[in-house]
Amino acid sequence: MTHIAKNIPRHVAIIMDGNGRWARQRGLPRIGGHRAGMASVREIVQVSSKLGIEYLTLYAFSSENWLRPRIEVDALMRLLGFYLQKEIAELDRNNVRLVAIGRLHELTAGARRQLDKAIAALRNNTGLTLVLALSYGGRAEIVDAVREIAREIKAGQIDIADIDEKCISDHLYTAKMMDPDLLIRTSGELRVSNFLLWQISYAEIYVTDTLWPDFRKAEFLKALEDYGKRNRRFGRVHSTRHK
Ligand code: IPE
Ligand code: IPE
Ligand code: MG
Repeated sequence: MTHIAKNIPRHVAIIMDGNGRWARQRGLPRIGGHRAGMASVREIVQVSSKLGIEYLTLYAFSSENWLRPRIEVDALMRLLGFYLQKEIAELDRNNVRLVAIGRLHELTAGARRQLDKAIAALRNNTGLTLVLALSYGGRAEIVDAVREIAREIKAGQIDIADIDEKCISDHLYTAKMMDPDLLIRTSGELRVSNFLLWQISYAEIYVTDTLWPDFRKAEFLKALEDYGKRNRRFGRVHSTRHK
């Protein structure tokens, strides 16, 4: 593992996709794929924490996922509560802090309760910050930020001239985090599906055909190794290699 240790990304964001296809390949209902995907979450969180990654942001439920059949949405909300309840002790043992981004008030009451409980229980941890994107949409996030900035201007707290990139970043759900260095998408789809639109402007992108329930430690290390070889230029002529 030492060869990737020097160029470890500080913030990894993952679009965990392909649970439904994984289930279909096995003749299971889609929810069987979501359940299997939880084991990947557990493993990737653990490896990230061991490697000293600072932020791991997982796209768990998008604003658009509410448009799926009711039975799948309900099952996903229940699975979320179940995951949090089951993993809280293990996350705590690994010194993991938990944060959630998205329109959290839209979650079911049960899922919200477990989420608040887990966040509170893990709030003093100082290791990996696990960020769950829930009822999250990149466009909705920008809308919410613009509304908040407008409110502050109206209240006389800030001036129009104060609006710059930092001001906008500071009003996003991700306000206190650095932008993702590496964006991983599983299951081969070549799109961002409304994930972290503002924050990924200079993220390195890694797409693998592996479906999320099959994305485990070895696959993750492969992605990190690939990232370690990238030349990040940030628009300049010379590669800064890694920040
Ligand atoms: C990702 O897997 C999990 C969520 C979006 C909640 P999918 O459910 O999108 O799986 P596919 O893309 O249909 O295979
Ligand atoms: C993106 O996957 C959302 C999550 C992984 C939570 P989707 O499966 O919802 O995205 P599309 O529909 O393929 O773009
Ligand atoms: Mg999908």
